[in-house]
Amino acid sequence: MSEKPWNGRFSEKTDKLVEAFTSSINVDGRLYAYDIEGSVAHCKMLAKTGIITEAEASSLIRGLDKIKQDIAQGNFQFDDSLEDVHMNIEARLVEEVGAAARKLHTARSRNDQVALDVRMYLRAETLNIITLLAELRQVFVDISKAHIDTVLPGYTHLQRAQPVLLSHHLMAYYEMFSRDSDRFRDALKRINVMPLGAAALAGTTYPIDRHYTAKCLDFPKVSANSIDSVSDRDFIIEFLSSASLCMVHFSRISEELILWSSSEFGFIELSDAFSTGSSIMPQKKNPDVPELVRGKTGTVFGNMIALFTLMKSLPLAYNRDMQEDKKPLFDTVDTLKACIEIYTNMLPNMKINKDIMGRATSSGFLNATDMADYLAVKGMPFREAHSCAGKAVSYALNEKKELHDLSLEELKSFSSLIENDIFSFLTTEQMISRRKSFGGTATENVMAAITAAERLLNGEDS
Ligand code: ARG
Repeated sequence: MSEKPWNGRFSEKTDKLVEAFTSSINVDGRLYAYDIEGSVAHCKMLAKTGIITEAEASSLIRGLDKIKQDIAQGNFQFDDSLEDVHMNIEARLVEEVGAAARKLHTARSRNDQVALDVRMYLRAETLNIITLLAELRQVFVDISKAHIDTVLPGYTHLQRAQPVLLSHHLMAYYEMFSRDSDRFRDALKRINVMPLGAAALAGTTYPIDRHYTAKCLDFPKVSANSIDSVSDRDFIIEFLSSASLCMVHFSRISEELILWSSSEFGFIELSDAFSTGSSIMPQKKNPDVPELVRGKTGTVFGNMIALFTLMKSLPLAYNRDMQEDKKPLFDTVDTLKACIEIYTNMLPNMKINKDIMGRATSSGFLNATDMADYLAVKGMPFREAHSCAGKAVSYALNEKKELHDLSLEELKSFSSLIENDIFSFLTTEQMISRRKSFGGTATENVMAAITAAERLLNGEDS
């Protein structure tokens, strides 16, 4: 049984139950590489400021590097009674380098140490997520480009509304994931702040150089207030909120892919490699991947709420409650990365049923707005034109026909302004090509959006 760092003040041994209950090593063990990197920088700073000797620092750094290797190679048994990753590593350091190891914790506390580790971890993972999102955004651009002439009904209230290009629909997701990426980039500014040197909460009496530590660890900023440094978890909540919003976007496309792959829609077919079957119904091919992504959205929201609830009303500065921040954070990072990765691989393999999508635009009166526009262009006030087209829809419904199936005579009965040119006006092609307003679905607009996205992703725009 290992000796506790606080044993000086205590006369009784920690109860086994308490050891098990308070230990976080199963969760925070994965921070080991950041913990060691942070300790190495701390050593360098202690030597530079003369708090320890150069010889002590190099022996500590040698020991820390050895421990890092041992953990990476699986030659390190984490011990529950040592509570967390910080104390496990420090205890091993004593074995590696002897008494000098006891100097590592000079001018530092686990309170600022854990804040540093989590910030380093989250900085790396946020950058990974931004890179993964760029790959996913590229997939949306590639599919949009390859399917530039595919049309489908655009929906409002899940009722067919007006025809749009599939590319326009997919580029809407490109926009969402681009905003997500921007949000992570912005959150990074507040993650990338160096807290070490705050010590327990009040700073330290040693002549430390926090800016030097920050430089060693590539932090552009040093936290300004020692109390805030050890008690701030805003940066985690901000990350979890951005992740939740990103999952909202995933859940929306998941819902669409699930609907679109049903027999009722038939718009797409997910590849066999990204679908699963049923153990009882031989005909089934299920969209489990989008369903699970949709389901995992709930877990990611839950993790965000967990952190909000954890931090609500906590008095300054550090409280042990805060140890509970890591499980939800790690879970969200893992889940989000997995969702981005699976979508990046699934989408290019999905079959797009262009004919079925196209056919769906020619029924359901998707051209009723355009009939009203036609009359308005010919001089009828839009409100009147709307009502006139509405009457035509009602008539056609009774006749079990579409507007474009009515004869010129039938159409003329609604307005004498109607001429033969109405038929081309009401085709899907024209309905799309006329929507040239900025951000509209006309092919040239969508092509321009695709080109702009390509330039941005290639870095030509920054
Ligand atoms: N394992 C702790 C955490 O994750 C490290 C900080 C412990 N600090 C303390 N005063 N007990 O928050």
